[in-house]
Amino acid sequence: MALCAFYAVWGLLLEVAVAFGPVPRITWEHREVQLIHFHESEASNYSTLLLSEDKDVLYVGAREVIFALDAVNIAEKQHELHWKVTEDKRTKCAVKGKSEQTECRNYVRVLQQLNDTFLYVCGTNAFQPTCDYLNLMSFELGGKNEDGKGRCPFDPAQSYTSVMIDEELYSGTSYNFLGSEPIISRHSHQSPLRTEYAIPWLNEPNFVFADVIRADQNSTDGEDDKIYFFFTEVSVEYEFVGKLMIPRIARVCKRDQGGLRTLQKKWTSFLKARLICTIPDKNLIFNIINDVFILKSPTLKEPVIYGVFTPQLNNVGLSAVCAYNLSTVEEVFSKGKYMQSATVEQSHTKWVRYNGEIPNPRPGACINNEARASNYMSSLNLPDKTLQFVKDHPLMDDSVTPMGDRPRLVKRDVKYTQIVVDRVRALNGSIYDVMFISTDQGALHKAISYENGMHIIEETQLFPNFEPVQTLLLSSKKGRRYLYAGSNSGVVQSPVAFCDKYTTCVDCVLARDPYCAWRPLEASCIDIFKESKIERNWIQNIGGDASSCSVCSAQAPEMNGATSTAACE
Ligand SMILES: *[C@@H]1O[C@H](CO)[C@@H](O)[C@H](O)[C@H]1NC(C)=O
Ligand SMILES: *[C@@H]1O[C@H](CO)[C@@H](O)[C@H](O)[C@H]1NC(C)=O
Repeated sequence: MALCAFYAVWGLLLEVAVAFGPVPRITWEHREVQLIHFHESEASNYSTLLLSEDKDVLYVGAREVIFALDAVNIAEKQHELHWKVTEDKRTKCAVKGKSEQTECRNYVRVLQQLNDTFLYVCGTNAFQPTCDYLNLMSFELGGKNEDGKGRCPFDPAQSYTSVMIDEELYSGTSYNFLGSEPIISRHSHQSPLRTEYAIPWLNEPNFVFADVIRADQNSTDGEDDKIYFFFTEVSVEYEFVGKLMIPRIARVCKRDQGGLRTLQKKWTSFLKARLICTIPDKNLIFNIINDVFILKSPTLKEPVIYGVFTPQLNNVGLSAVCAYNLSTVEEVFSKGKYMQSATVEQSHTKWVRYNGEIPNPRPGACINNEARASNYMSSLNLPDKTLQFVKDHPLMDDSVTPMGDRPRLVKRDVKYTQIVVDRVRALNGSIYDVMFISTDQGALHKAISYENGMHIIEETQLFPNFEPVQTLLLSSKKGRRYLYAGSNSGVVQSPVAFCDKYTTCVDCVLARDPYCAWRPLEASCIDIFKESKIERNWIQNIGGDASSCSVCSAQAPEMNGATSTAACE
């Protein structure tokens, strides 16, 4: 194992000369396209975004302020709420050695929809994380000032993720001032749960994303909804000179109640596995996960998990997107082998595959109909043997492999930070998963992958000052598709396509953009999702064959002279 990992990372250095990845077909400079900006002179660090599609509101959590913006035009501010640190708290924070001007402020980190009338919000509050309820009618805080420990980091520089499911907050962050105690927890009045504070559970994780995947309503096995967490952590299972990072997927069950004695108030369903994103024949390992998007669509048999990755030693500037189908993930957790630690040479521990007997019910499994039939009605009834086993074996030996066993996209000279994916039906009925991937230089790539390779339709410079995009959201409401990007300096709203920038048929078709088609009669390149109905003579070809454009001009004489010839060019 040790040697293999060593080669894998150093293999990167040998790849310097190799060119990777498609080049964007077209690049839009910041001023060339119509983007809408929002920023206010006193506010900074617009890093938390929440979209309410029902209300058409974009909530923005920045430093010491929360905004409500019109989601159709974010330049229209509807509300703002200042949420400042008290003078006293700031002084105390500074005494502890933190910067009074920057760190000892209130960075909004959690912004979640609790119900129709309230948002649940948390901020770092000068290293004393605090949560509160934001009333959407009055746009004021309830003044509850709940202790936000475990829900929001102390340090604004630390990683965090959270998701609200059925009015309960699930979060991944750190639990102490130093940031040395990582935690995945559920904040709930009935049954708060957390991870064990132990290296095999979480080892210096960097949290990037969390989301729920609901159980299949049509299935009869009575499975539970599951919450997935994504993070990079320091490997325990590979030996390496220094710290080898490993991208992980972890999951817990929604109805977990913890154990009665063993694992009391702790997850009984916490399991984690390695996510693989590699190009084996090139010796390339992408082992840092930067963001995840879970594509859930009625046209999909099962959700697909998209992740953006970079290698640990990224001197070449490579990024990759890997996609995983849910059944592969579930297979690993429900059928895979576990890992176990073994002590060798007195103190040194090694992680190896566990080949012994596995207790019943299966450790880490959710309570389903089968468990209920054996009278395990809740995790509180689970036998000690099962609980002790999952406590000691949270790591799976089997890994989660990507669909097609390789990345969907590999790109050189770029560091991808965030991803969202839109599933669209092109004119010919084919379905494309359009990936929008942001960079650490303020740009956005729009890409599709198809049988014969990958294609970057366009690059758009969202932020003129080339700063990292920290948050990316997609609104795919019918007829109103927008992207929202947050950074240290502000928020940008962008349409998903710039079809009207293409002025000829050939240009429009060669863009190979599933959103765009050429409308010969008006000689314009249109966004097909903005039209009320699709017409047969529109021209689109995702394969990049623009010959229909000339067919159109050949037919021109049947229409009327000059205008139609122009229309078909
Ligand atoms: C906040 O934004 C400033 C730039 O405006 C940046 O230097 C700083 O690192 C950011 N702080 C955090 C915690 O993101
Ligand atoms: C999920 O991925 C596995 C492995 O790549 C593949 O065998 C299986 O057919 C995929 N399932 C679907 C529904 O795509």
